[in-house]
Amino acid sequence: MEADKGKVCVTGGTGFVASWLIMRLLQHGYSVHATIRPDPEHKRDVSFLTSLPGASEKLQIFQADLSVPESFEAAIKGCIGVFLVATPVDFENREPEEVIVKRAVEGTLGILRACLNSKTVKRVVYTSSASTVEFSDKVVDTMDESFWSDVDYLKSISYFNFGPYIISKTLTEKKALEFAEEHGLDLVTVIPSFIVGPFICPKFPGSVHTSMAMILGEREQYVFLLNLSMVHTDDVARVHIFLFENPEVKGRYICSSHTMTIEDLSKFLSAKYPEFPIPTLESLKDIEGYKTPGVSSKKLLDSGFEFKYGLDEMFDGAIQCCKEKGYL
Ligand SMILES: NC(=O)c1ccc[n+]([C@@H]2O[C@H](COP(=O)([O-])OP(=O)(O)OC[C@H]3O[C@@H](n4cnc5c(N)ncnc54)[C@H](OP(=O)(O)O)[C@@H]3O)[C@@H](O)[C@H]2O)c1
Repeated sequence: MEADKGKVCVTGGTGFVASWLIMRLLQHGYSVHATIRPDPEHKRDVSFLTSLPGASEKLQIFQADLSVPESFEAAIKGCIGVFLVATPVDFENREPEEVIVKRAVEGTLGILRACLNSKTVKRVVYTSSASTVEFSDKVVDTMDESFWSDVDYLKSISYFNFGPYIISKTLTEKKALEFAEEHGLDLVTVIPSFIVGPFICPKFPGSVHTSMAMILGEREQYVFLLNLSMVHTDDVARVHIFLFENPEVKGRYICSSHTMTIEDLSKFLSAKYPEFPIPTLESLKDIEGYKTPGVSSKKLLDSGFEFKYGLDEMFDGAIQCCKEKGYL
């Protein structure tokens, strides 16, 4: 445990990415104000957070919801940094797209206003997604931070149930960058690809689940693996901390260490995990769908960041956590 580095706020504390980030921030010497969604009846078990090393002295939990942006003010008070990780996730399309987009955009802008008003927040790190880059009619092998997903294009391809999520991420990141520019707020965005690896949250994270589709035999998910860009959970947490601590950084940062076709992923998994019935290359021939381009982390690497983990660690970590938590 490092020396005290000050207070930071992490939103969406119960989530896959945020809970791992909180663990790492505590280890790096930060005091953490984690927000979780309101739970008036105290039914939610957050012991996976409160039992983290250092949590009893350095972790405080606050209740806040993106639908009520002012609810984040108490958690932000006195913080030097804010990690905006929470996002509305609704892959069952229970709510209309406009509602999700409004909640994400207005919630995020409300938090940014609270950051400005706090007078203590020095930098905000917003967690975006590679999906804000990858979806447009531009045909290239690899995309960088200059690419943006096109909302009209997304609506035209109806990408399963992910449209509202991708549209909300794209519009929120754009609006957040515009707000920061306009008001002189120091804000950087992290753009992770599919996050694969270990997890401490109790639920089975969606991206880990999908990346393991061939291990789990869930053929309906193979379409998302056609050209999969991936990054390890811990590298994502490391990038958030790196971007917060590095004075030189500015703007958007793609964070993705590996891109693999479904055929190469199948070869990798069947060689490494012969105990699972990984589908043969022949059986994958008829999997068709939107093939996402690769994404480049050159800007991040040029700023001095180094990825620490490879594919072995991503899948070993994911499989081990799934076994421990009874998902495998
Ligand atoms: N996993 C990936 O592969 C991936 C890739 C790229 C980017 N990202 C980004 O990483 C961030 C975290 O994603 P994740 O994978 O960790 O997903 P997750 O586990 O579903 O986390 C999302 C978090 O947002 C919270 N949330 C949802 N609606 C909210 C609201 N109205 N008010 C306050 N909090 C709300 C959720 O709270 P509850 O626990 O109460 O539902 C949860 O804690 C997101 O911004 C996502 O876009 C993830």
